[in-house]
Amino acid sequence: MDPTKVILDRAYMIAPVDPRIFGGFLEHIGRAVYEGVYDPQSKQADEQGFRKDVLSSLNDLAFTAMRYPGGNFASGYHWLDGVGSRSSRPVLQELASLSIEPNQFGTDEFIQLARKMNWIPMITANLGTGTPEEACNWVEYCNRPVGTRFSDLRAKNGTVEPYGVKLWGLGNEMDGPWQQGHVPADQYAIRAQQAAKLMKDIDPSIELVVCGSAEIGLPTYMEWDRTVLEYVGDYADFISLHRYVGNLSGNTSDYLAVTNSIDQQIEVMDSLCRYAQARARSRKRYYLAFDEWNVWYRTQNAESVNGHGKFAQHLVEEEYNLEDALVVAGFLNSFIRHADVVKIANLAQIVNVLAPILTRGDKILLQSIYYPLVLYAQRREGVALQAIVDGPGYESKNYGFVHTIDASAILGKGVLHAFLINRSTTEPAIVEITPAGIGLKSVRSAELVTGPSAASCNTFDHPDTIYNQKLSNIKLTGQIATIDLPPLCVAAISFSLDDNA
Ligand code: AHR
Repeated sequence: MDPTKVILDRAYMIAPVDPRIFGGFLEHIGRAVYEGVYDPQSKQADEQGFRKDVLSSLNDLAFTAMRYPGGNFASGYHWLDGVGSRSSRPVLQELASLSIEPNQFGTDEFIQLARKMNWIPMITANLGTGTPEEACNWVEYCNRPVGTRFSDLRAKNGTVEPYGVKLWGLGNEMDGPWQQGHVPADQYAIRAQQAAKLMKDIDPSIELVVCGSAEIGLPTYMEWDRTVLEYVGDYADFISLHRYVGNLSGNTSDYLAVTNSIDQQIEVMDSLCRYAQARARSRKRYYLAFDEWNVWYRTQNAESVNGHGKFAQHLVEEEYNLEDALVVAGFLNSFIRHADVVKIANLAQIVNVLAPILTRGDKILLQSIYYPLVLYAQRREGVALQAIVDGPGYESKNYGFVHTIDASAILGKGVLHAFLINRSTTEPAIVEITPAGIGLKSVRSAELVTGPSAASCNTFDHPDTIYNQKLSNIKLTGQIATIDLPPLCVAAISFSLDDNA
C-alpha cells in the first residue's frame, strides 16, 4: 500500500477538546448498577458496597461526565423512590426493561460514586412519566443550600453541602415510540421548556441537554430537533445525539467506514443548531451532547432488554471484538475532529450493559473496546488539530469513500497526540506524520491495539487476546515521523515537542 501522509498544522486548530467528550453512562438496566458498580454481597465490595475491581478498571478509563440514571429507565424513574433509608425504599416493577428495581442505589449513592471516581455527574430528569415540578425538585435536592423542603431532605439523608450537579438532561429519547411517556415533538417541547424554566429558576448555573433525535432512521429525524430547539430556545444549552452501530452484514471494511456517517450525523445536527439560532435571531449557540454512543447490534432485540420481572438479569451484554474496538476509536476520532461543536459525549455504557467491562460472579473481564478507551484517556488534553489525510482509500458499500487511515490529533502543552486507525483488513500501512509549525523532538509514548483477526475477542477463558501493546517502529527523520502499522489496528502516539519550533 502507498504511504499515507497525515498533515498536522499548528495553524489549523479546530477548538480545545472539551474533557466531557470522554464521558460514560450508567443506567439502571440489567447488571449495570447492581452486580456492576454496586454489589455489596461481592467479595470485591468496598465498605460502601462498590466493586473495587470494577472501579479500579474504570479508573484507567478516566471517564469525565457520567450520565445517570438512564436511558429509557429515566423516563419512568421517580427520584424520591431512591433516597432515604434503604430499608424503606420501595421495590418496584420497572417498565423500561421489565425488571425489578429495588432502589438500593439512588441519587446519594451515585454522587458518592461520582466523587470517588472523579466523574462529573450528569443527571437525566424524568420527562416521560414525571413532571417538570418533579425535575425541579430534584435540582433543589441536589443543588440548593439547606433551608427548603428538598435541600433539607438531602441534609437529613446525610449530606448538608449541595452536590452542585451542573449537567442535567431534559428526558431521554422522547421521540422514540418505545419511550415511556413518548409524545410528539411539540408536546415534548412544551414539557421540556416548562421543566427547564423551573430547573434554572432553582439553579441558574446548571446546563441543560434537550432530547434530540434518538435514531437517524426515525421518521421525525431533524423535524423533531428543529421543533424542540425552536420552542425551548435559550433554555437549551445542548441537544442530544444518540448512535449505535454494528456490522450487521458481516462486511468489516464497510463497518469500519461508518465513521463517515458519524461525522455526517454531527455536521447535520450542528447545521440544524445554527439554523435554529439564526431563526431565533439569538446570540445563544447550541452545542452537541452525543450522550449515547457505542456498538450495539448482537443484542439489539426485544428479548435482550426483557428482564421478565426479575432483578439484575443479563441484559444487553454485548461481546465485543477487535473490529468493534476500531469502531469505538473511530467515534472518538470523530468527536475530536468536531471539537468545536461536540462538547459532551457518553459511551453507552460502562459495565456489563454494552460495556468495556463485564463481571461474572467475582471475576472481571476487560473487553476489546476497553483498550482503545485507555489509549485516548491518557492523551486528551489540548486543542484538536485538523488532520489532513492524503493517501489510499476505498469506496465502502454504505458510507462512501474513506481513507484507509482514519486520523485525529490533539496538540497539548509540549506534546502532540496522534490517533490512527488502519482500516485495512489485510495490509500493513505506512503513515508519515508531517507537521507544520510543530517541532517533533521525540516519541514520548506509542501504543497499539490489534489482534489476530477482526472477530477476535477477549473471553473469561481467554482474556488476553486483545490488549494494548507497545508500538516501537517509529522513525523520526527531520520533521517527519514514519510509523508502520499492522492491519486492523488503532494506534496512539504522543510526541514531545521542540519548544523552538
Ligand atoms: O443504552 C441502552 C438504551 O439505549 C438506553 O436506555 C436508551 O436510551 C437507548 O435506546
